[in-house]
Amino acid sequence: MATAELAGKHLVLGMTGGIACYKIAELTRLLTKAGATVQVVMTEAATQFITPVTMQALSGRPVYTSQWDARVPNNMAHIDLSREADAIVIAPASTDFLAKLAHGMADDLLSTLCVARDCPLLVVPAMNRQMWQNPATQRNVTQLRADGIEVLGPDSGPQACGEVGDGRMLEAAATYEAIASFFSPKILSGRRVLLTAGPTFEPLDPVRGITNRSSGKMGFALARAAQQAGAEVHLIAGPVALETPWGVFRQDVQTAQQMHDAVMRSVADADIFIGVAAVADWRVDHASEHKIKKTAERALPTFTFVENPDILAAVAKLPHPPFAVGFAAESGDLEVHGEEKRARKNVPLLIGNLGPLTFGLDDNEVILFEAGGATKLPRADKQTLARALIVEIARRLPDTSLIR
Ligand code: CTP
Repeated sequence: MATAELAGKHLVLGMTGGIACYKIAELTRLLTKAGATVQVVMTEAATQFITPVTMQALSGRPVYTSQWDARVPNNMAHIDLSREADAIVIAPASTDFLAKLAHGMADDLLSTLCVARDCPLLVVPAMNRQMWQNPATQRNVTQLRADGIEVLGPDSGPQACGEVGDGRMLEAAATYEAIASFFSPKILSGRRVLLTAGPTFEPLDPVRGITNRSSGKMGFALARAAQQAGAEVHLIAGPVALETPWGVFRQDVQTAQQMHDAVMRSVADADIFIGVAAVADWRVDHASEHKIKKTAERALPTFTFVENPDILAAVAKLPHPPFAVGFAAESGDLEVHGEEKRARKNVPLLIGNLGPLTFGLDDNEVILFEAGGATKLPRADKQTLARALIVEIARRLPDTSLIR
């Protein structure tokens, strides 16, 4: 989980009645861990599901539940509580609360705070499938969007009532991601980004194969940062054990050939291609259909390798290539190999991992190679670095990509 994007933000976290209140305990922990301050305000109904004491302990601040709370010196909690807020987030947002917001009602502290606000409002709906589908709810949600209110989710799946369908609240981590995304500058708004990430797996037989130590973390961090920067992101991933970043379209592949074919099918739509995957350079000529057996009389197996397609070079060779970015993993002499590799692959930008190979680690340090020279970025965790790289990429986009 990245941390920097919400550091220093002040959020009013408004809770309304619903079983999803339990998710807000975890959401509060994620937000405060990320350096945000969280002022919890609960409706009377919310206090039936989780206690203000729990929310106070997690947020580290007193919780407000009543419009007549005398703790605010001027007795104007409905105005003062959101005065310093960067946003109000209503989670969970009940059917009733969405209806009240859509009509500008102000009959308790939280609804009055929302009407009196001078900051963005985000709502995270949570309700039963039929309540969500009810035409009145749908009308209200349309009205909220038209009023400039961000509606995050809802999710689809099994519900507390035993039914399955739309309406359940996003999980705490996804809600966190959606809030973080809301605060990120939209420097890639309207752009389509295609990325490859992770290793590839080249089979020798049905149970064995050749792969490498790429964890996929850098590629996934870049996909997340691009999504947060407003891009439409398509991530083609080799075999990795990572969660799909929120809002990213992910396609899983195994082999270099499959990755190549998936990229070629989608690249025409992309404004930016980022090849982060550690693609196997070779595969065995003919993988055995059956498991290769070890028998006393049989000689050690031998394999003939053939070269895999170079995906990045193939993208760069297209008649109208997207802005193509490569990565280089080297075990030495990066300064020499980086620029040579960039020129050989004919891409405008190649990002070289500095220092020892950083597969699987959370930190990284990189050099940007481009025709004009090389620039080093400071060491940082991969998510911070990913955000910095997205800024660097956005800065270098040619104007022509605006009209692709
Ligand atoms: N790449 C690719 N297809 C391949 C091999 C590499 O798209 N078959 C891309 C990687 O995703 C990365 C860049 O090319 O963006 C450089 O990958 P790297 O493994 O460092 O370079 P190679 O071309 O494989 O060269 P070498 O192994 O000789 O260092």
